[in-house]
Amino acid sequence: MPLSSIEIRRQIEALGPWFHNIDLAGVATAPDHFLGNYPYVKWQKFASAIPTDLSGKSVLDIGCNAGFYSIEMKQRGADRVLGIDFDEVYLNQARFAAQVADMDIEFRRLSVYDVGALGERFDIVLFMGVLYHLRHPLLALDLIREHVTGDLMVFQSMQRGSTEAAALEKNYPFWDYQLFNEPDFPKLHFIEHCYADDPTNWWVPNRACVEAMLRSAGFEIVGHPEQEVYLCRLAEKNENDGAVYPAKGKSA
Ligand SMILES: C[S@@+](CC[C@H](N)C(=O)[O-])C[C@H]1O[C@@H](n2cnc3c(N)ncnc32)[C@H](O)[C@@H]1O
Repeated sequence: MPLSSIEIRRQIEALGPWFHNIDLAGVATAPDHFLGNYPYVKWQKFASAIPTDLSGKSVLDIGCNAGFYSIEMKQRGADRVLGIDFDEVYLNQARFAAQVADMDIEFRRLSVYDVGALGERFDIVLFMGVLYHLRHPLLALDLIREHVTGDLMVFQSMQRGSTEAAALEKNYPFWDYQLFNEPDFPKLHFIEHCYADDPTNWWVPNRACVEAMLRSAGFEIVGHPEQEVYLCRLAEKNENDGAVYPAKGKSA
């Protein structure tokens, strides 16, 4: 039997505070979100870049939070959606949201650093809004590429600084100091304490840095539908480029 709106509201309050604003049978989980109706407003900017029919596909939502994107993927007909997060508070929200939305989605407590334990690749991996919360962002990208990306990775990161990305050389002279003052050269700012009142915001990349990190981890950028969002596929290994990631389809 469907829950009454009073009961939904009661459970939303008991499970809060929420980062995802999700409409649960007419009740909003985070109506006062500082980013507005988030992540709906973000999703609207790139939803059309993701296949609308996901039947037969598997999806892994890393850092799923309350499951907004997991639910969207299931609504598009994905056969299997697995949401992982290392925060049980968010996972409980996600389970409740999926229950109210009547969606068969699995949510599991797992850190991105442990994705290898899943022992399976997914057609679509969502890795959105997590990179800059990690102490070891490149390690996470390397593991996602090596262990779980089957076809497409949808990636998003907060960005600050220049929105231009310089064409990069394969090498630079030791005495080239000016390079590091160029706004469009890859930059990753380290936050020792807090940014936006959030002590888990460890890194803030500019656009050039995001793109260079994705390439360095062995992803080919095949789409950039929104300022912070990238569609990536597994890059073929170029034997001459010094890359350390394993060749497509092979394990390390
Ligand atoms: C800013 S939220 C992004 C949520 C959602 N992916 C989105 O784009 O709206 C970051 C999420 O990453 C999760 N997270 C942070 N570090 C993680 C880790 N090491 N492994 C798994 N999840 C992590 C947090 O618990 C949080 O739910």
